[in-house]
Amino acid sequence: MSEKLRAVFHACVPRPIASAIRNLRQTLHLYKDSVLQAHRYNRNYSRVASTELTQLETRIMFLSHQIEKGLSHGDFRYGFGRKVFLALPAMLKSLELADSNYEENTVFQESMSALHEYMERHIRAGKDISWQKSLFTKEQWNHIKSANPSRGGSIVIRRSTKANNSLLPYAQLNEHRHSVREFSDEPVDINLIKQAIDMAMRTPSVCNRQPTRVHLILNPEIITKALAIQGGVGGYAEPPALILITSDLRSFITSYERNEGFTDGGLFGMSLLLSLESLGLASCPLNTMFTAKADKDTRKLLNLPDNEVPVMYIEVGNFLEETRTCASVRYTGNQITTVIK
Ligand SMILES: Cc1cc2nc3c(=O)[nH]c(=O)nc-3n(C[C@H](O)[C@H](O)[C@H](O)COP(=O)(O)O)c2cc1C
Repeated sequence: MSEKLRAVFHACVPRPIASAIRNLRQTLHLYKDSVLQAHRYNRNYSRVASTELTQLETRIMFLSHQIEKGLSHGDFRYGFGRKVFLALPAMLKSLELADSNYEENTVFQESMSALHEYMERHIRAGKDISWQKSLFTKEQWNHIKSANPSRGGSIVIRRSTKANNSLLPYAQLNEHRHSVREFSDEPVDINLIKQAIDMAMRTPSVCNRQPTRVHLILNPEIITKALAIQGGVGGYAEPPALILITSDLRSFITSYERNEGFTDGGLFGMSLLLSLESLGLASCPLNTMFTAKADKDTRKLLNLPDNEVPVMYIEVGNFLEETRTCASVRYTGNQITTVIK
């Protein structure tokens, strides 16, 4: 609307009607923009049959991460990952076709490294992995056999290395934080968690509106039920504490701010992870990528108000003396950076 038209509009239309029209326009924008967003998502997300390189890397990373999680289990289950083994060889074959330099591909190397550790640990324990081997081509198996073990698989985390975390410079604290999915049995100090939440309050947010809300769950029964709905840490014992980060939609003022709560809540989540780490507590972020049913069930279980949307969970507990976790090797900054001059 031009300035002139806007002035005429304000002069002629009574305030309540003008406001109703404005609200209607916002609502229409919200639905239209959400549909456009859905179309873009639908055009681009990775599907089983995708052959485009990044989409393939996504799926291979997803599957290799399952292997890394299995390798990290305190209660190691030989022969785990049958579904992953059924899917991974064909995807690796597609990657070989999509990337002429696939041997140097970060995701390929991580996958080979995780499979290498799988192979070594089974062979060392005298377990038969001829079925797994039969699924790969001879060339793929050779890659697995000769993979560099430091490019993926599992790593060991020791509690003793966390004692001076509060004194570490940022770069070291950040480098040594890892998601830990197994915790010691001892109760967690709630005051430390509250201190970490206070530290995370320094997280920036849009116009300093601070839309993030924190639900600290300490009831073991509710934790079990919440994680059963979440579904991303099956097979692990429950943590002593579970945090749900949400965003309060009442903090937003236009239709096009609809995703901002996830940005602000995500930033808060990272601050909280590092704050917990600096206070010597172990943690693991968990997704809240809920279906409509999981969202409904979670809302009911945790008594979440309609105005809040889940952003992520964070499991919290004390470190075990020694535990394993996924190596989760990263791309380099250069690999993800486009410089615009
Ligand atoms: C938003 C988010 C959701 C995640 N969801 C899960 C999950 O559902 N289950 C899980 O085991 N790990 C989950 N993770 C942990 C990731 O696997 C982990 O952060 C990643 O592999 C990088 O490893 P690091 O945290 O040890 O550096 C999640 C991480 C983030 C940031």
